[in-house]
Amino acid sequence: CKTFGLRPLSCSLRVPRGRGHPLAALPGPPRWPLMGSLPDVLWKGGLKRQHDTLAEYHRRFGKIFRMKLGAFDSVHIAAPCLLEALYRRESACPQRLEIKPWKAYRDFRDEGYGLLILEGKDWQRVRTAFQKKLMKPREVAKLDTTINEVLEDFMHRIDDVCNHNGQMEDVYSEFNKWSFESICLVLYGKRFGLLQKDVEEESLNFIKAVKTMMATFGMMMVTPVELHKGLNTKVWQAHTKAWDDIFKTAKHSIDCRLEKHSANPQEDFLCGIYSGGQLSKKELYAAIAELQIAGVETTANSLLWALYNISRNPHVQQKLFQEIQSVLAANEGPSAENLKNMPYLKACLKESMRLTPSVPFTTRTIDTEMVLGDYQLPKGTILMINSHALGCNEEYFNSWTQFKPERWFQKNLINPFSHVPFGIGKRMCIGRRVAELQLHLALCWLIRKYQIVATDDKPVETLHSGILIPSRELPIAFRRR
Ligand code: HEM
Repeated sequence: CKTFGLRPLSCSLRVPRGRGHPLAALPGPPRWPLMGSLPDVLWKGGLKRQHDTLAEYHRRFGKIFRMKLGAFDSVHIAAPCLLEALYRRESACPQRLEIKPWKAYRDFRDEGYGLLILEGKDWQRVRTAFQKKLMKPREVAKLDTTINEVLEDFMHRIDDVCNHNGQMEDVYSEFNKWSFESICLVLYGKRFGLLQKDVEEESLNFIKAVKTMMATFGMMMVTPVELHKGLNTKVWQAHTKAWDDIFKTAKHSIDCRLEKHSANPQEDFLCGIYSGGQLSKKELYAAIAELQIAGVETTANSLLWALYNISRNPHVQQKLFQEIQSVLAANEGPSAENLKNMPYLKACLKESMRLTPSVPFTTRTIDTEMVLGDYQLPKGTILMINSHALGCNEEYFNSWTQFKPERWFQKNLINPFSHVPFGIGKRMCIGRRVAELQLHLALCWLIRKYQIVATDDKPVETLHSGILIPSRELPIAFRRR
């Protein structure tokens, strides 16, 4: 803590012998009866700006504070020393906040749970089955050809959909199609044809089902899902129908892939995981469907923010272009091996994920009483780990508003626990390495072929809509070099 100029008082790495201050002593925003701090959050710009409000609360109340939104009581942390303390005290099976609507559907249809909602020993077993393939750099590197296949098509698609100024009508949806196509090829071994002119009915239904599912579960997170199910509300019906469609396509695609590689399952990414014998078919279906859902918008959005930041910093773009040109021969497609020689490209993505992260916070439900930042937190406390607030804190990042990839080359300046865009510990994002490979390769293809031009200089803000999306159509154009 001292190295990073933090007050040791609030950075307990050990549980002190004595007890910490009680939960009630934690500072926090004003709390009204029943509503808690909701009026204040709404007053400050509403739920869409909650990440900025939380960063402001951290500036006001410090590294740890408590907040109530209606009945939802949580403790917020945003300091490397507290994240490290939590990491060191993590149990074997850390828990995140429950996604009750997803569980309700699976129980209703007797489907399995995937990594996003599993808990305890079952989570550990499924995580272990996937971990070997998804978190080992050497295994993930083998996916570069698959990812490049989709990127090559995406470059043609950009040429097709851009007008003579290099602008697209709906850049967000185009990048989501790329991401969807890319992760589906990795997971299902199947092309859905979303980058073609005429998209097939089945693919359109699939992408629509994922959208509907995502759009309907938020409502059932804040009102009891049992009530929706009991009354068979429109939201419940739409949510159920969406999951039915997702599972139908996912199961069919997975079955085809297992069948195709039945002779030599070890040679295939997915079949290799299943042939380990740790998972039932039901678990495999659910786990793959959830990997796909977790991996589409997060990746597309991160790429868009990276392009936006690069467009506003032409000197960075020039340096990045030069690095790519110096590593790749003319007409050579980038490979995972090439990326090892592109430190600046990696720093650009890291910096973009600090300044404009896609996921602003993650959660933990602590399964044992613990002292954190000198406060005694009872078992069951919901912790919000505010990674966005860390990235915009001057204490951890000098001139934090500036996009400076160079900062990542300064030795010992940045505490690893101050940059956690993929979460922390045993439960961190299992798709991290796949996402990074997709994003690094995508940046290679895009920056080599196009100059990314800022079409205006007005600010673009981050809005919270599950992830942090741009507040308006991104003002960028793709000009062929
Ligand atoms: C969990 C971020 C891409 C699958 C998470 C978490 C974050 C995150 C913050 C919570 C971690 C925690 O609680 O500590 C991101 C970002 C991505 C991305 C920013 C893109 C840039 C992906 C991809 C996949 C994926 C491509 C699938 C291949 C998952 C899964 C979990 C998860 C399954 C739950 C893991 C578990 O609980 O064991 N992600 N993610 N993510 N992510 Fe990602």
